[in-house]
Amino acid sequence: VKVHHYDRNNPDWAPSLNLGHLKVKESSASTAVARFERVLQREKKKNDLEAASALLDLVNCNDRDDSTDYHEYSKEGFSSVGIQTDLTVAVIEAMEAEINCLRDEKNKLKAKNDQMDLNQEFFKGDDYRVKFYTGLPNFLVLMHVFSFVEPYISAGNKSSLTKFQQLILTLLRCRLNLSVQDLAYRFCVSSSTVSRIFKAIMDLLSMKLKFLVRRPSREELIKTMPMIFRVNFGKKVAVIIDCFEVFIDRPSNLMARAQTWSSYKHHNTVKFLIGISPQGVISYISKAWGGRVSDKHLTENCGFLDNILPGDLVLADRGFDLSDTLGLMCAQIKVPTFMRGKKQLSMPEVIDTRKIANVRIHVERVIGSVRQKYLILNGPLPIDFVMYKDNEGVTMIDKLVVVCCALTNLSPSVVQFE
Ligand SMILES: *[C@@H]1O[C@H](CO)[C@@H](O)[C@H](O)[C@H]1NC(C)=O
Ligand SMILES: *[C@@H]1O[C@H](CO)[C@@H](O)[C@H](O)[C@H]1NC(C)=O
Repeated sequence: VKVHHYDRNNPDWAPSLNLGHLKVKESSASTAVARFERVLQREKKKNDLEAASALLDLVNCNDRDDSTDYHEYSKEGFSSVGIQTDLTVAVIEAMEAEINCLRDEKNKLKAKNDQMDLNQEFFKGDDYRVKFYTGLPNFLVLMHVFSFVEPYISAGNKSSLTKFQQLILTLLRCRLNLSVQDLAYRFCVSSSTVSRIFKAIMDLLSMKLKFLVRRPSREELIKTMPMIFRVNFGKKVAVIIDCFEVFIDRPSNLMARAQTWSSYKHHNTVKFLIGISPQGVISYISKAWGGRVSDKHLTENCGFLDNILPGDLVLADRGFDLSDTLGLMCAQIKVPTFMRGKKQLSMPEVIDTRKIANVRIHVERVIGSVRQKYLILNGPLPIDFVMYKDNEGVTMIDKLVVVCCALTNLSPSVVQFE
């Protein structure tokens, strides 16, 4: 293999031109310190008288050109005593300055490394990092999201964080459930600044990204209907629905405590209705309801039905007893058949139930993937996420779940239908 002399990154590279000289030039900065220390060592060894006279010489020579580069001297080295008279005060000072410079630089780099300021450079070219810290699939998607919301992020004032860092801080909290104090230390800001930024960015993201969670048009649905659905249900399935619950801290308010008590989870929770398209994309997410609400009541009252078109088929689990409601809308719901009160299911019932179970598994996988991506949803969430509504009656938990679902839709679906 021919290796060009300029191809330095090639592992087979060896200097073929300017042998030796190149090396000296390159290493001159890094060895300046060592060289200076050697000189000092040698100075120590000489007896005082010699040192004094040498010093005198140095002072006498002081009117030499101060701008003389010390590299000039380094070429000869300081191997012979005679040449040490060339070491003027100016040169020593220059060396000292250089050493201090290098030392400062080293400290700065170390500090930078320690606080790991999560800027764009940190993520560029490292999709694993992007995934780990943001849940997004790669740097390109992260930058798309950033440039999409950037014009609306306010920067300046007290906030010492860049717009990008504000976004990262927010994603980091969702992704890794980091506490406010932890983020404050990481970003070298106060915890109240963290809270303020998180709130502002969540407001922004929920507003700007909520379009990513929407029901596809009937044409879109039919065109890309996966085979497993075609075979089992024709092209009618519009959405597969389920509920999921998120743990919250125990409310002090008795009424709220009762409304959020989930007998199913034995914890205070909020409950959401989530809809997944046959393509594995989150196509609906409700607002948060108290964990006590029934699946049926939630589905009928959260606004989900506004998205239903005549002819739609909805798949759900037991408990979504909505045949009448959907029937009125000329739509249909299929749930696995209850065993209750029956000795045996009929053959068609068994087949139907199996068909539904086969595809419903995927909804659970999508819900699982949102929770796995955004650990904050494993809760328990602080009570103020649930209690305080903004002017539009939307709570932080509502925004949080919309953002987590929207961001999840930016990754390839965990559900891969052939
Ligand atoms: C800047 O300060 C003003 C007044 O204190 C405040 O209203 C505004 O939100 C601040 N902007 C940022 C980006 O902190
Ligand atoms: C998430 O963070 C909150 C607040 O810091 C904490 O109370 C909760 O235990 C964390 N959840 C998990 C699953 O670690």
